[in-house]
Amino acid sequence: MKKTIVVALTGASGIKIGDYFLKKVYDFKDLFDRVFVVISKNAFYVAESEGFKLDIDFYRNNFILEEEKNLASPIASGSYRFDGMVIVPCSMSSLGAIANGSGTNLIHRAADVCMKERRKLIIVPRETPFSYIHLENMRKLSLAGAHIVPFIPSFYNKPESIDDMLDFFSLRLFDLLGFSIKDNKRWGVDE
Ligand SMILES: Cc1cc2nc3c(=O)[nH]c(=O)nc-3n(C[C@H](O)[C@H](O)[C@H](O)COP(=O)(O)O)c2cc1C
Repeated sequence: MKKTIVVALTGASGIKIGDYFLKKVYDFKDLFDRVFVVISKNAFYVAESEGFKLDIDFYRNNFILEEEKNLASPIASGSYRFDGMVIVPCSMSSLGAIANGSGTNLIHRAADVCMKERRKLIIVPRETPFSYIHLENMRKLSLAGAHIVPFIPSFYNKPESIDDMLDFFSLRLFDLLGFSIKDNKRWGVDE
């Protein structure tokens, strides 16, 4: 069955991880009814600092691009049926706001909706090292049902480039969303 999902990019390092995942979602667009995309103001700052150009026209043309301040968006309400949300990358600031129910923007609110409605919430935190506060916030989110999925590249698939790593990681995010995409780089699957 096709799914409706939300993908959010926040102001943590590794904006490319989120962009790569979105391009993969586009590659598999037949799996989705709707894809909402929310990019925080700080994600734009970080992208610029990382020398990464966010292709807003691509997002606008292929997805439903929402402003982070638009709390009137359908995804701000539990009554709107969407299946899950991926926050990639997720800053410690957004993570803390979501863990403590103190969010003020659409990203935090949609994540809150996922937890209260018991929908998939997949968080890709980016920070190192983690402080006790970060770990405690992640523990709370995990107890509330969220998946905490740091970008820790696999090596058994023998990556030869960063894109290979991002490709394999994106596949894991698809798995967690409930899709099973055939890929012969999975452990135990013959080439
Ligand atoms: C270049 C740059 C890199 C940053 N990297 C991180 C990071 O990896 N993790 C993190 O938690 N915050 C990082 N920050 C700080 C966040 O951008 C900041 O906490 C911001 O308030 C996050 O806002 P947002 O979650 O609404 O996007 C970075 C900031 C800058 C300018």
